[in-house]
Parts: sequence; structure tokens; C-alpha cells
Amino acid sequence: MASLKELCDGLPVDPLPSPRDRDESVPHAPVRTVNLTDDERRLALQNALRYFPSTCHHTLASEFAGELRQYGHIYMYRFRPDIELRAYPIDEYPAKTKQAAAIMLMIMNNLDSRVAQFPHELVTYGGNGQVFSNWAQFWIAMHYLSEMTEEQTLVMCSGHPQGLFPSSPSAPRAVITNGMVIPNYSSRDMYDKLFALGVTMYGQMTAGSYCYIGPQGLFMEPHPSSAILVIRKPSLCTLLICYKPITLRIEDRTSRIVVLNAGRRQLGVSNLSGKVFVTAGLGGMSGAQAKAAVIAGCVGVVAEVDGAALKKRHAQGWLMEYTSDVDICMDLIRKARQMKKPHSLGYHGNVVDLWERLVQEYESTGELLVELGSDQTSLHNPFNGGYYPVQVKFEEANEIMKHDPERFKALVQESLCRQVAAINKLTARGMFFWDYGNAFLLEASRAGADVCKEGAPLGVFRYPSYVQDIMGDIFSMGFGPFRWICTSGLAADLVTTDEIAKKVFEEIIAEGLPAEVKAQYEDNMKWIEEAQQHQLVVGSQARILYSDQRGRVALAEAFNKAINEGRLLGCVVISRDHHDVSGTDSPYRETSNIYDGSSFCADMAVQNAIGDSFRGATWVALHNGGGVGWGEVINGGFGLVLDGSQEASDRARMMLSWDVSNGVARRSWSGNLHAKHAICKAMEQNPLLKVTIPSHVEDVTLLENALKP
Ligand SMILES: NC(=O)c1ccc[n+]([C@@H]2O[C@H](COP(=O)([O-])OP(=O)(O)OC[C@H]3O[C@@H](n4cnc5c(N)ncnc54)[C@H](O)[C@@H]3O)[C@@H](O)[C@H]2O)c1
Repeated sequence: MASLKELCDGLPVDPLPSPRDRDESVPHAPVRTVNLTDDERRLALQNALRYFPSTCHHTLASEFAGELRQYGHIYMYRFRPDIELRAYPIDEYPAKTKQAAAIMLMIMNNLDSRVAQFPHELVTYGGNGQVFSNWAQFWIAMHYLSEMTEEQTLVMCSGHPQGLFPSSPSAPRAVITNGMVIPNYSSRDMYDKLFALGVTMYGQMTAGSYCYIGPQGLFMEPHPSSAILVIRKPSLCTLLICYKPITLRIEDRTSRIVVLNAGRRQLGVSNLSGKVFVTAGLGGMSGAQAKAAVIAGCVGVVAEVDGAALKKRHAQGWLMEYTSDVDICMDLIRKARQMKKPHSLGYHGNVVDLWERLVQEYESTGELLVELGSDQTSLHNPFNGGYYPVQVKFEEANEIMKHDPERFKALVQESLCRQVAAINKLTARGMFFWDYGNAFLLEASRAGADVCKEGAPLGVFRYPSYVQDIMGDIFSMGFGPFRWICTSGLAADLVTTDEIAKKVFEEIIAEGLPAEVKAQYEDNMKWIEEAQQHQLVVGSQARILYSDQRGRVALAEAFNKAINEGRLLGCVVISRDHHDVSGTDSPYRETSNIYDGSSFCADMAVQNAIGDSFRGATWVALHNGGGVGWGEVINGGFGLVLDGSQEASDRARMMLSWDVSNGVARRSWSGNLHAKHAICKAMEQNPLLKVTIPSHVEDVTLLENALKP
């Protein structure tokens, strides 16, 4: 295929493209579990064939049945386009509206093989974060977008393009839902069944909403550099004891912050040179860890079982060296410790082998070779390839997963117990370990590993979680991962937006800010100043930083003005990770510090997407799952195109204000004082905003007294 035009001409059925086998030169998603009855298999096939005219059914039926048998899902490999998928500049898409062209660009970026984890299975990150469920859906969606006008809205239901429906110019151009199932049926088994049937999919957070921007998203995302570290006891290892949170200001604003933070707090050092941080995962988002360690100034040792994932990060320069030999790995760690230079070292193998070997080294030499530890395997998806058990080799694990899922599950759980046992031994000797927001502690506890904390409430483990204990109050203050994408595709435009952002922050700081908010802005300045030098772009020309409502609105308006004045040569898409102030309800992550019992409720995320949709978003998305797993979280996101018009500026102001204040209001209602302060400030600035403020029970003894029989 020669052009984007052909790509947008609709599903090619006359003639059909030639059949093709899987291309073994790229990494592929693990074989999916198929728990379908014979009738359901027929249904899966029938569901796939309905995208095609009946004249094609004879040709396609056995091929699709073969895919279901062999790979556990019908991806329709024959229809994988020949054109290189990447974020072509916005003007190159055949489209009747810039808004639709921007959505196309974002879809193409999510499927770029440099960006996506398993591009041929339409998985962007996290092992199963699908953009679409099959290639027919991709073609149909691109075609709809290319012919859409400003009086239509594309409806996307779990990858399926339901169609273009009449709407108005002010409506979103696309409304996306992923994995919305009736709550009682939101089990993992049902997910396996419904995905195999082709009727639902896991959109993660930014995969199925087309907002992924490569590992830079994680780089900045989980660890706002000047995080207010809310801990309840001075030692992070034995946290959650005092009732009064204390705050600790830390300086950097990238994912290095958790590493830095842990170092400062736990090790009592601000310089991490010669300190070792051990973790696992060099995949979609986890691939940022090696670089984060280097920027934090320490030695990052990252285990990765999948050679293709490891080599990809090495080739991209995000990982400095690697070895498959655990003996050599120990030598290299010792060498790096002595050199005291920032370094990243990949261990091609299972992280459990690495942890157990580090224990062995300690026990035989008394030398603790690791100070900081975490894990970023895809434990939101533990039994379908998110986590590889140590007892068997990578390839064998994939076979067992396919042919004996029950055994695979048992192996994963045993492996997790071994991993935790080793980690516990090292933390007892002084290593600091934390959960990286990947459901590690949750799945380890379900596996029976020793991670629970006696007498602690549900969801509180012996190790801290970065959201619960580090990020929580950032969100309550309204700060979250704001991102933008320069649709011209020009690196020069990204440089210009960085400069604009710096100026915007300087101006806001100059107007005067409370100390803790000012600290956030200063960290943003540092991040933006350094961003170019760290070469974080993979795929689209994108940037991410943490910002509150004021900063987000100011940035959007400044970018829009620059487009209007011709200083930026194309539209800018603004978006965010769903992992944000109000985007996500997730009791073990984003809303783990909600203590009024509502952390298991998902009204905030649903309200968020609905509210964004009529306040100006170009597209909105609502997902089941993401981050910590299917059924464990509901999250919402948006994209908004800035085209330099006054209308775009109005939309951004209206939508971004809601997008942040919805979450701050909810956090305030749950009793969070930072949120209460932030929402009261917002009300002062906008008389149209009226939020219900809680009264706190000052004398808690009255509760006991009143409840006495
Ligand atoms: N902290 C956050 O804000 C945040 C953001 C995004 C994603 N996540 C979560 O982090 C996890 C990782 O995300 P991702 O996009 O990198 O996923 P991914 O699936 O692309 O990468 C995980 C990697 O871990 C490797 N792996 C699995 N088991 C292993 C083992 N035992 N030893 C060594 N390597 C092993 C896999 O081969 C894979 O490459 C997911 O659960 C995701 O939901 C967290």
C-alpha cells in the first residue's frame, strides 16, 4: 500500500489482501486463554466474519478459526496494513476535519512499532492494552474518521466502530468505551471469554483511548518530581502508624523521584551515586525505569525475561548494557558500585533469579548489593503473560500458559511467593522496597506471599505503594500528568512548546503561590529545561509534565495563541494519562488514599468522562481496567485539539477546569485537607463553582459514645 489515502479507503475486501503468517521478526502477544465452548467458538467466528461481505466468508472462515485456535484471539493478521504505522503529520491524513485527523494521528502513534509493545496484535502497552481488538476495526475506524464531518460523532465500543452518529460541532468527535461490562460479570474469566468472542477488550488507560506517548508517559507520570511525600511514620519501611501526615519536599520531577525519594528518606542520602536500584520490566512503560535510574544518579539493574523487549530498549538507548549471565551481572553490579557513576544494566532473565542471587551474595559475603527495589512486571494481568514464573524458561512458560492455564497460574503464584521471600530477606537487611503501581503487592497477597501487615485495613501492605504513600496528595492538590502532542510532527514545534511552558510557569510563579504549590512549579521548570537533553521522544512529538488546573489552562491557552500567531506550525493535542486527579477510581492506586469508604466507588471517573464530553473534549474515553487490572479500576480520559481558534481556547478552559476540580472536590469530600484547600481556592476564583464542603467531626469520642448500645 502506498498512501494514507488508501489506508482510509475502508476495509479492503475486493480484492482481499493476501493471507499472511505472523511476522516472527517482531515481538508478539502471548497466546490468550480461550475458555470458550464449541458454541461460543462458532459465535467468535461469526462475530469476526460480520465485518466482511458474505462473499469473503469462505476464504476467511478457516483462517480466522485457525487464529482463534493458535493464538486465542482473532486478530485478522491478513488485514495488517503494509504502510508503516506512525504519527504522520496531521495535514497528511485525508480528513474533512482537523479534529478527526488528530484522532487518526494518535491512533497511528499507538500502533507505531517503536512505540507499541505488540504492534501486530494491536497492543500498545501493559501486555494487553489494546487499541483495537482486530485489524478490521482499525480500517473501519480510520475510514469513518476520514469521512467524518463536524456534525458527526464516532462511537467506539471496545474496539468496535459502531458508526458515525449525527451530533453537533461542539460535541466530541469520538466517544470511546472499553471493557464496560455489567459489574457482576467483570471477572478475569469473563474477560478471557469476552475478549475471545471479540466483544470486549482491555484498553488499559491510554492504549484504547489513543493517548499513549511512549515511555516518556511513565517517566513523568507516576512520580511527580516535587512530590509531597505523605507518610505516616518517619520510616517508610514501617509506615502508616502515626495519624498526622508529614510532608517531605523533594526536588526532581520525573520518575527518578521515587528512586531519589526513597534514597533520601530511607537511606538518608541525597546523592545516590553508587547505590543500586533493582527492578523488573523493560516493556512499554516499565522501559523507562533504566533511564530514570540513570537520571536519578544511581545504578539501575532491570531484569527482563523477554529478549526482544530488552533489546528494543537497548537499541533505543534507554538501557546502557545487558547480560544474560547472573554471575556476570553480580560482577557488573560490583563494578558499577565502585565506579559510582550513573548506570543502567539489564539482566536478561527472570527477576526472581536476580533477587535470590542477591540474597545468596548477601548470605555468603555479608555484602548487600542493593539499596532500593521495586517491580514493574505487568501484574495487572498476572496469568496471561504479564508475569513470567521463574521455574520455567520464557518459551516454555508461553507453552504452559497456552496449554495448561491452571498450572501456569500455580507457577506464577509460587514464583511471586519466592520473589517476596527474597525481597523480605533483603529489606530485613536494609533495602527499601516499594510497589510501583502494577498490582505487585495485591497479586502477591492473593498468591499467599508474605506481604500483609498484621491488623492493617484492606489494601495496606508491609511495603508502601507509590500512589498511596507518595502521590496521593499531589492528586488532592490538583496536580496530575498533563501532556501535549505537536501534530505537525516537527521537533521544532516541541521545542517551541517547551519554551512556552517555561515562560508560562515563570509567570505563574511570579504572581505568587503557596510554598507547596510553588515547589511543584519550580520542579516543572527544571523538568522542562532538561527535557530536550534527555531525548524522551519515542513516536509522536510529545511532552508530559505534572500540572494543576491553573497551569493546565494557562498552557493550553498559550499553545493555542502560538498556533494562532503561526509560532507553532500545527495543531496541538492536549491530553493526560487517565492516572490523574479525577480520571481514575482505583482502590489500590489512584484512590487508595480515600478514607471515607468510597475508594471502591467509581462515580468520579464516570462523571469525569461525561463532564469532559459536553465541556469541549474532542474525544472522551471510559475504561474498565487499566494499571491494576480488569475489574479493579474504572478510568476516564480525553483528548482536545487546539487549533488556534477562540473556540478551542474556550473549550480548553471550560473542560480542563472541570477535569481537575471534579477530582479535587471528591477528594475534599472524602476528608482530604489539601483537596479542601485547593477546591476552596478554585471557588474563590470562579463564583460559578459551588462545591459541597464536608464538616469534620472534631471530637471523635462522640462517635464512640453515640454508637454505644
Ligand atoms: N506506575 C504507573 O503509573 C504505571 C504506569 C503504567 C503502567 N503501570 C503498570 O506497570 C506494569 C508494567 O507496564 P508496562 O507497560 O511496562 O508493561 P509491559 O507488559 O510492557 O512490560 C512488563 C515487562 O515485564 C517483563 N516481565 C514479566 N515477568 C517478568 C519476570 N518475572 N522477570 C523479568 N521480567 C518480567 C515482561 O516481559 C514485560 O516486558 C503494568 O502492570 C502497568 O499497568 C504502572
